[in-house]
Amino acid sequence: MIIKPKQNILKQAEVINQENLFEALIFPMRREEFFEKIFTKKALVIKGFSSKRFKQIVEEQMFDLDLKQMCENTASENIHIWFPKQKQDQQKVKSQKNNKNALKDQDLTIKSIETEDPDLACVSYQRGGASLYFGSSLEFRNIYCKSLAFQMGMNFGAYFTDFSTMGEIETFWSRKGNLTDYHIDFQENFTLQIRGSKIWRFRRSGLEQPLLGYTPHYQNTGNIEEQSKVHLNYHSIDINKQYQNVRDEVYEVQLNEGDILYHPAGIWHQVECVSDESISINFSLRQLRQLECCYQPKFLMPPCLMIPRILKFDLDKSVEKNGKKYSVNLNKDSIVTLNPFYTINKVTDFPQIPKELSEAQYVINGLYGNEDFSSQVRVQIIAKSKQSQSICDLLIKLETKISPQREKTIAVRSQWTLGTLIKLSNLAFNSGLIDIQLKNLIFNGVLVLV
Ligand SMILES: [Fe+2]
Repeated sequence: MIIKPKQNILKQAEVINQENLFEALIFPMRREEFFEKIFTKKALVIKGFSSKRFKQIVEEQMFDLDLKQMCENTASENIHIWFPKQKQDQQKVKSQKNNKNALKDQDLTIKSIETEDPDLACVSYQRGGASLYFGSSLEFRNIYCKSLAFQMGMNFGAYFTDFSTMGEIETFWSRKGNLTDYHIDFQENFTLQIRGSKIWRFRRSGLEQPLLGYTPHYQNTGNIEEQSKVHLNYHSIDINKQYQNVRDEVYEVQLNEGDILYHPAGIWHQVECVSDESISINFSLRQLRQLECCYQPKFLMPPCLMIPRILKFDLDKSVEKNGKKYSVNLNKDSIVTLNPFYTINKVTDFPQIPKELSEAQYVINGLYGNEDFSSQVRVQIIAKSKQSQSICDLLIKLETKISPQREKTIAVRSQWTLGTLIKLSNLAFNSGLIDIQLKNLIFNGVLVLV
């Protein structure tokens, strides 16, 4: 949807700041209309306002567009530099027809690098015609992302458990011709075109639950756990296949200086810089997806959410001996079900076992995180006794068994008494099992008391 306000409305626009942030970003649309018609559903472009509205952000948070200072103060570990396509490259492509070895040479061309060096980034941009991508300063992110998430009424899904924000502000300094190819983001995004112009091309994906693991853009080993959760918990379209046809039915819009764009998680988009230089920022907000929200009251509050996210847990010791407090009375008739947001995997099922997992036999992932924090809750389980391992193996089996019809089973989930679970794991019943291993699994959110 594109909004081009009339002159009298354009005059009413306020300078955007942390207090009026959300209302100012969507102005003249009202928040009720935004949530009803736009949010998580479609892209919105608001055109025609002067970039003077970005004055406070630019002066106070973007070092008045002093590139060097922005690079020096980035919260990112690295600055990404994309180099322009060399004419040489094109010649090589032509010569491929005559010389098969040319392909090897072409692969050696450096297209992008990451650096910690602000000087290198600045020189690459200013003299090498390169484009840059880096995070804003920590202060900008903390103040503005938190305000925006709060003003939009996002709940704890927008924050980490230490209340630091999950949102980010991305900064793009781009040169003409720079192209970010089609991908899907898992966050909600507001882009401010501060200088220059970019063409955005969109296409619907039809994804109901745009979680990180779906997008081909993020195919790296860090996402193996994410993807395993996505595939276990939800069935959807084959996003990799869709990517092949993504250039059909494209909707195109040009963002000019002063324009604002909202685009939801899960929409295909490609971005091309069409001016000699372009500066834009993107507020990228994490939000609990519907899949997560529908289970929120019952499943998202196991005790482990109240303690640090990455835990090491000895399944053969009691909860208390693991250093946690937990009091609930359980017996063999207590009824449990599997938490749809938690998966338990064998450590050996991951192709690359991280060093910190060397002692652990199982890993529990809870909720959905991002690349840096692969889950909001990740518990590395040490399970040495046979009974702990039998119960974990059983839970993995149960989880895998219900996954083919996950959509159906989400409504009517299988339930078991603790006594039945013990029987299913081929173990002799004793109350110690309930008190130690099963209590641990409930405490860590793998099993949920019904
Ligand atoms: Fe994106």
